[in-house]
Amino acid sequence: MSMQQKLDELMHLRGQARLGGGQERIDKHHAQGKMTARERINLLVDEGSFEEFDMFKAHRCTHFGMEKKQFLGDGVVTGYGTIEGRLVYVFSQDFTVLGGSLSETFAEKIIKIMDLAIKNGAPVIGLNDSGGARIQEGIESLAGYTDIFLRNVMASGVVPQISAIFGPCAGGAVYSPALTDFSIMVKNNSYMFLTGPKVVKSVTHEDVTVEELGGAMMHATKSGVADYAAENGIDAISYVRKLFSFLPQNNVENPPYLATEDSPNRREEYLNQIIPENPNAAYDMKEVIHRTVDNGEFFELKELFAPNIITGFARYNGFCVGIVANQPCHLSGVLDIDSSIKGARFVRFCDCFNIPIVTFVDVPGFLPGTNQEYNGAIRNGAKILFAYAEATVPKVTVVTRKAYGGAYCVMSSKHLRGDINYAWPTAEIAVMGAKGAVEVLYGREAKKKDDPAKFLLDKEKEYAEKVANPYGAARRGYVDDIIEPARTRFRIIKALGMLQNKRDTNPMKKHGNIPL
Ligand code: HXC
Repeated sequence: MSMQQKLDELMHLRGQARLGGGQERIDKHHAQGKMTARERINLLVDEGSFEEFDMFKAHRCTHFGMEKKQFLGDGVVTGYGTIEGRLVYVFSQDFTVLGGSLSETFAEKIIKIMDLAIKNGAPVIGLNDSGGARIQEGIESLAGYTDIFLRNVMASGVVPQISAIFGPCAGGAVYSPALTDFSIMVKNNSYMFLTGPKVVKSVTHEDVTVEELGGAMMHATKSGVADYAAENGIDAISYVRKLFSFLPQNNVENPPYLATEDSPNRREEYLNQIIPENPNAAYDMKEVIHRTVDNGEFFELKELFAPNIITGFARYNGFCVGIVANQPCHLSGVLDIDSSIKGARFVRFCDCFNIPIVTFVDVPGFLPGTNQEYNGAIRNGAKILFAYAEATVPKVTVVTRKAYGGAYCVMSSKHLRGDINYAWPTAEIAVMGAKGAVEVLYGREAKKKDDPAKFLLDKEKEYAEKVANPYGAARRGYVDDIIEPARTRFRIIKALGMLQNKRDTNPMKKHGNIPL
């Protein structure tokens, strides 16, 4: 064979591999409004940057006539490329090849790039669209999954891991995305569940649709598994690219700096009026965030899940931060099980990857009730406390209004190693709200009065004036300063600048034992 013939053969085989399961299946896939595995990669990485591995890899299964069902690449496209010039490892499951089902060799391809990612300190992005374990292979495919899970765990806290789900992701296959840092799902086309509707029906007799059981909206609103429910594949990929722009390559690098024209001195007069006169009236904490961060740009995560706490990334004077904030617009910003878990996981991510944490506090306390207690409010509330306490990245806290009781303690307080703790003059830092406190202290006495309601109201005012303000905390140094709300951006930027070289450690240990 001449060199030219050999090159022609190579080109022919490459072309065959690129067709995955063949044109017919690609057309069917497109007809469902889905992109192919390669189209997704092309959209994700910088043009021309993708280097593919293992295009010729083929499975070794001989059961059930599988020796005749060979597809070059075996159903997953793997390799590396760049996003905005930064290295990233990618795998993309190809549903057109045997339903994107995972075989032993398919797993080996994923493992190869995960090992490289850990060694070379670059993030892994997994694009999932698979019918699960390759049924013809059985145990080898289970082994393959578990080998991937092990890498997910080993890579956790070393390199960021992002999963996007474009189609089915069922059974044990869900655990790889679950082990990664972020999961993005596509509305109407993707689903994740441990067992499908048929099994659910036979075991629990529930009638449930695929969408209700494991669709993107369910996971984005109820389970908290999805960080974002994308409108379509393109939206999912652009969300992943944006998310990536805030993340460092690995745990020994800092997140990328993005120079900004937005002045660090910018005042926001509106913030001097944002807190309503009525302490029980709501206001939108996202306003506070948008008005203080660079260019008003806030990249929110898990927006639809536990909206009483807000989590996401933004930049102050070009430097990336993670923002955690109570949201008075939802359940008065109360801490409950879901919001504690959401906040805790985000704080831990930031701490793994050298991302300073800015916390805005307006929290009336932990949500009371049997529902919360029965479901482990104590165990779950402890998670956010644990996460803040162990975090050694710079921590800047701004109390805008309420910081009551245990919720004061856990929301990045000075006592949990908050580095800089500011309060607005509107802050109320106390063991509990005036109404509750007065009922405990004067409830019995009030009954003896001619006008108990007026008596309690007067006492409430007295309590609020005496205790529910930031000065008690300031006198003790629990807040470092009481700041003018309009100057919040400037003060946060100053604090973060001062903390830029912060070094703090925890005692030597194998790992802590966060309450799970
Ligand atoms: C082998 C599979 C497959 C699988 C799909 N295919 N899933 N082949 N192993 N797991 C093949 C189909 O036979 C078909 O081949 C092609 O992929 C496309 O599948 P369709 O069924 O035609 O597609 P669609 O109607 O869109 O349905 C998609 C689907 C369905 C809902 C995913 O295929 C399905 O229910 N698959 C089985 C899912 C499953 O039970 N997986 C195992 C879960 S257990 P042809 O040649 O006809 O085109 C598991 C354990 C993991 O994953 C444990 C890890 C610890």
